[in-house]
Amino acid sequence: MKAIILVGGEGTRLRPLTYSVVKPMVPVANRPFIEHVIRKLALHGIDDIVLAMGYRPDSIYAYFKDHRDLDVKLTYSLEEKPLGTAGAVKNAGRHIKESVFVLNGDCFSDIDYSEMYRQHKHNQARATIALTEVDDPTRFGVVETDEGGRVLRFIEKPGWEDVTSHWINAGVYVLDPEVLEYIPDDQFYMFENGVFPSMLEKGEPFYAYRSHAYWIDMGTPEQYHRINSDLLLGNCSSPLHVARDIIIGEGCEIHPSAHLTGPVMLAGECRVGAEASIKGPAVLGRGCRIAGGAVIENSLLWDDITVAEGAIIINSIVASGAKIDKRQRLEGQTINHRAPTAK
Ligand code: GTP
Repeated sequence: MKAIILVGGEGTRLRPLTYSVVKPMVPVANRPFIEHVIRKLALHGIDDIVLAMGYRPDSIYAYFKDHRDLDVKLTYSLEEKPLGTAGAVKNAGRHIKESVFVLNGDCFSDIDYSEMYRQHKHNQARATIALTEVDDPTRFGVVETDEGGRVLRFIEKPGWEDVTSHWINAGVYVLDPEVLEYIPDDQFYMFENGVFPSMLEKGEPFYAYRSHAYWIDMGTPEQYHRINSDLLLGNCSSPLHVARDIIIGEGCEIHPSAHLTGPVMLAGECRVGAEASIKGPAVLGRGCRIAGGAVIENSLLWDDITVAEGAIIINSIVASGAKIDKRQRLEGQTINHRAPTAK
């Protein structure tokens, strides 16, 4: 079965991390975010995957060119200008003849795609949208349904006075090919305020699939940090990561007096000095050098980071190549020494 993953956004809310890496390539448990998403789809037999891209696609091509063990057919659909969520699907899916999954490429979830697809077919739906329940729906697209699960209304980012439901659009759809007829060619067009309201007006069989499975959108550094912690703590799953206590990559040198308290993941070639302490959930990328007496707690360090003696890093994210000075203290910070890159 086919899926189109939308990965064309700029990821402005994830700055400063997206100054170094495009949003789909941001590392989660030391692998690109999008690789987790692709492998999860593959578990459900969704093995024909199109990445709908617009923004700085080169690093994505380069990574997957070297990772051919995915067991999926991976193709790319490139947009010359931003087409929006629906415009991107039209661009990528002109020749679709069967139902297709469409995913916002920034959602990390344990949604049961197989069950969702079964329900789509059972309802004889034209479109099915996955819903997840959140405490604060005011930041999201709220979806109202009737008792039979048929979608009645979309309310984008409602004020609290207009909140009639805590079930929001989880960014996962099953669409029949006829839905593409609602999308104009080569134009910026969105599902949320374009395609879906038109379908409702026409009375199309449009159903919701309610899921209580883990779901988070990695829009901001805080949410991105949470995905990593949740994965290490076993609160969500990925075929790429089995929650374990301590995982140490090849070529790491850990001083015998260093303290590692899991869950901790170290990629290859890391060095951890005497009396340094790493307390999980924590992920260190390739080639990090942690000097004696440094403390790292509940943090994400990308590749090639140097942490000098006695520095303390708590609840923070440090992008690749940074140098943290002697006795410097970071708490609740997101650090990237790279300036914004041109498109
Ligand atoms: P922000 O700039 O921080 O809002 O991030 P974003 O644009 O990446 O995310 P947004 O929530 O606006 O979009 C939801 C999903 O749709 C994300 O996975 C985006 O990558 C994707 N997306 C948004 N616009 C486009 C587009 O024009 N083309 C494609 N292919 N994908 C898009």
